[in-house]
Amino acid sequence: MTAPAPALSLRESLAERAEERDWAGVEALGGVQVLPPPPGLPGPRTPLWRHALTSWGYLVTGVSELKNSTCGFAQRDGRPHFFKYVGARNAIAELAGYLEFGAAGNRVPTLLSLLRTDAGTVMVYEYLPSMGLGRGTLFDLLCRAERAGTLLPEHEVGPLLDRIRANCARRTVRSSSPIDAFFARRVTERLIPWYVERRRPWLDQPVVVDSVPQPTTLRECLEGTAAYFDGLGPRECVLSQGDFSETNVGRGAVFVDLSNAGHNDVRGELATAFWSLFLGGGYLFPKYHPAAYRWREAPFDGAAPRCATRLDPRTATLHIDLDHRLSPARADLLHRLLDVFTEAFGPELLDRRLAPYLVMRAVGVLDLDTLDPADRAVCTALALRWWNERDDLGTVLRTLIDHGRPR
Ligand SMILES: Nc1ncnc2c1ncn2[C@@H]1O[C@H](COP(=O)(O)OP(=O)(O)OP(=O)(O)O)[C@@H](O)[C@H]1O
Ligand SMILES: [Mg+2]
Repeated sequence: MTAPAPALSLRESLAERAEERDWAGVEALGGVQVLPPPPGLPGPRTPLWRHALTSWGYLVTGVSELKNSTCGFAQRDGRPHFFKYVGARNAIAELAGYLEFGAAGNRVPTLLSLLRTDAGTVMVYEYLPSMGLGRGTLFDLLCRAERAGTLLPEHEVGPLLDRIRANCARRTVRSSSPIDAFFARRVTERLIPWYVERRRPWLDQPVVVDSVPQPTTLRECLEGTAAYFDGLGPRECVLSQGDFSETNVGRGAVFVDLSNAGHNDVRGELATAFWSLFLGGGYLFPKYHPAAYRWREAPFDGAAPRCATRLDPRTATLHIDLDHRLSPARADLLHRLLDVFTEAFGPELLDRRLAPYLVMRAVGVLDLDTLDPADRAVCTALALRWWNERDDLGTVLRTLIDHGRPR
């Protein structure tokens, strides 16, 4: 007797219907209107997404070209909307994340329609002033608090942490999760082509971080990280938005950008949030992807880490002294976020298995080869510390957050 096939998840069922081009099925299962490609051809210089929006009665009022999407604002019947043009598969993934994450009591903007085109899909959402031009994303809130030297207002940070705490109670053990796209999958998509296949001299350089000689080179750290993700089995997963960053969360604990929302590898989730709040979201991403910040507050200019490097010509050793002082607002939020996760999962969440996830964030979001040498040195120092001090990561993370400040 054959065992019954396991029930498909909502994500898989939606993907299956979309694969079969059963759009009525997608609409029925997702509860979101799916419109066909509009009749008529766009003008020679009109992109498909704009043609779809105008054909269905929207007036485009703002556009931003991002790394993964074209997004912007559009009016219809006097009401503002947010739109996002993504690949057809990505739209179905985001629909699935939206449904699963929203059904668990998380605040998300209402997804109103999917406008299909012959290439991608325009997702039309309810416009949220806080996430749009109202400057209420976590990025905006942090920039203002950082400039003022204060903590985030408690009525903002409390509800956000409460939501994350409630989501941490929704635990399962799974052998794959949407967020694997940022970890196991990036080993082959990024780690190998970006670093292993390139012969950059700095990969094999001996490194001393804050006077501590590192027992491995960056190449050895990356090889160990790649090996960890090879055939990773069942893991603790938790309900999450799946791409925690300051621009994906906003005032009133609202979450957007849900293509990886669902039950996610908890260490991946924690590493993503840590990296964003510690260095990526306040400094690296605004510096290297400024287009994504055109509707946001000006970045806090005290966010840059201080970092001194010196090459010892005798031994070809790179000495990196890292002095990254977090603002009170970021330090407080990070400590409290770590508290939420460790209260839910115990201190063993910060065991050595977290190190490969942290390393992947430090080297797998931005290509280190394209960064200023000082920024590359910061990422190198952090990746090496996390890898080489992985038996005491709890202390390492808390010490990094507290650097230069009494607690
Ligand atoms: N419903 C909404 N109303 C107003 N603004 C929104 C809404 N949803 C998202 N935004 C704004 O648009 C930005 C981009 O949206 P989103 O993150 O979904 O796109 P993305 O292509 O996945 O971007 P990235 O890859 O840069 O995170 C958000 O950071 C937010 O500032
Ligand atoms: Mg986003």
